[in-house]
Amino acid sequence: MGKDKEKKDKQFPLIVHKVARLFEPPKKFIEPFVKKGQVVADLGCGPGYYSLHFAKILGQKGKVFSVDSDERSIDALNKKAQKHGYKNIEAYTSSASDLPFIEDNSIDFIFANGLLCCIAPNQVEFAVNEIKRILKPNGRAYLSAAKGSLAYMTAEEWEKILNEFKVEKREDKRAEYTAEVSLK
Ligand SMILES: C[S@@+](CC[C@H](N)C(=O)[O-])C[C@H]1O[C@@H](n2cnc3c(N)ncnc32)[C@H](O)[C@@H]1O
Repeated sequence: MGKDKEKKDKQFPLIVHKVARLFEPPKKFIEPFVKKGQVVADLGCGPGYYSLHFAKILGQKGKVFSVDSDERSIDALNKKAQKHGYKNIEAYTSSASDLPFIEDNSIDFIFANGLLCCIAPNQVEFAVNEIKRILKPNGRAYLSAAKGSLAYMTAEEWEKILNEFKVEKREDKRAEYTAEVSLK
């Protein structure tokens, strides 16, 4: 516990985000989850690879809240959103453990891809509480967490997180845990 207190959010240089995305085609992940006009929260959005795809799918009547604790990522996302003319992205430099700018029960889909393994361990329960607070009663969330020594996530912690939700689908892959969840 004492050691956990010292652990900080894991953040990455932009080039690492770029390389990682080469292995994750966006269609595979996000198209099945969202519809035009919905509201999405992309938590731990990085420089916004997925946020931009969400913005395109959701259209002008929809909206993406993009949140990352790393200012460099949010700056990069804002530049790309401007360049592509997306006006439906609201980006915040903030921890996912504190989202005062998102109303209760207001989000159709939460995308937390690779977030919960990067949050400082003593902040994870607050992030989970925020996910539960902002999700609509009929909303869904996609959670994934990397495994291994570079990630904070343990099997026990992952189970603890999933216990907070109704689990619709889950996979225990070689390098990551993934789950689609809704409110209990
Ligand atoms: C593995 S990257 C995933 C990026 C993005 N979701 C994707 O799939 O391309 C994890 C991201 O979480 C961010 N992060 C770490 N701790 C955070 C926190 N407490 N709140 C919000 N973002 C955080 C990091 O800065 C990083 O951009």
